[in-house]
Amino acid sequence: MALIKTPEEIGLIKQSSLLVGKTLAEVAKHLRPGITTRELDHIAEQFIRDHGALPGFKGYHGYPAALCISVNSVVVHGIPGDYTLRDGDIVSVDCGVLLNGYWGDSAYTFEVGEVDPEVHLLLKRTLESLYQGIKAAVAGNRVGDIGYAIQSYLHPYGYGIVRDLVGHGLGSQLHEKPEVPNFGRRGTGPLLHEGMVLAIEPMINLGTSQVIMDNDGWTIRTRDGKPSAHFEHDIVVRKGQAEILSTFSYIEEVLQSKL
Ligand code: MF3
Ligand code: CO
Repeated sequence: MALIKTPEEIGLIKQSSLLVGKTLAEVAKHLRPGITTRELDHIAEQFIRDHGALPGFKGYHGYPAALCISVNSVVVHGIPGDYTLRDGDIVSVDCGVLLNGYWGDSAYTFEVGEVDPEVHLLLKRTLESLYQGIKAAVAGNRVGDIGYAIQSYLHPYGYGIVRDLVGHGLGSQLHEKPEVPNFGRRGTGPLLHEGMVLAIEPMINLGTSQVIMDNDGWTIRTRDGKPSAHFEHDIVVRKGQAEILSTFSYIEEVLQSKL
């Protein structure tokens, strides 16, 4: 697998990433108090298959579902199940699809009803940190510049930046080189070249950066039980400005229409 993708490959990753954005919007439509995370997973899996793609997470290293659904203090890799969403929850939904041999991988943290203002700000700032990271993902910069941008934007707020999990290259494999940490030092790490495709995905905690894994071997949660947010975009490194392949615009349309 080459780190630099051809325009044809980038076109295919974009198609996959757009389908992920549409799938997350389909989830957003159904997200309300009373629904179980399993029901949301089934809706997503059906939607992905109806669009001729595969729910790539299902079976990936034995992962049992189409989505990772991570509620409140769960950071990532929450397994959908019997949990019923309640007013005030935050729900990180991570989705990957495989279409025409290429992956799309994107995540969004939703609010269920009214959430604590402090938690609302955590989501807003985590989303903004993702865009700050994307701004640094230009040819000539290094991977450490992306992490530095995320980290330095968030610094004033004192949040915990998860260090045990990172973003990644993306293409015919879900996880390609390079690793993309959400922290770093300017001018360090692999050089970014035009045509590299990266999944950038800050995982940001209201409290400690420390995480623990459940006995299920998947669920990652904050050590202090405080909430965590996660947003993920797929991007192409370009000269001057990165191109975002995934999109939250379908999600935002649904969220607008719910107001
Ligand atoms: N979206 C996750 C990532 O970016 C992968 C989910 S793990 C899986 O690394 F097993 F569910 F695929
Ligand atoms: Co990812």
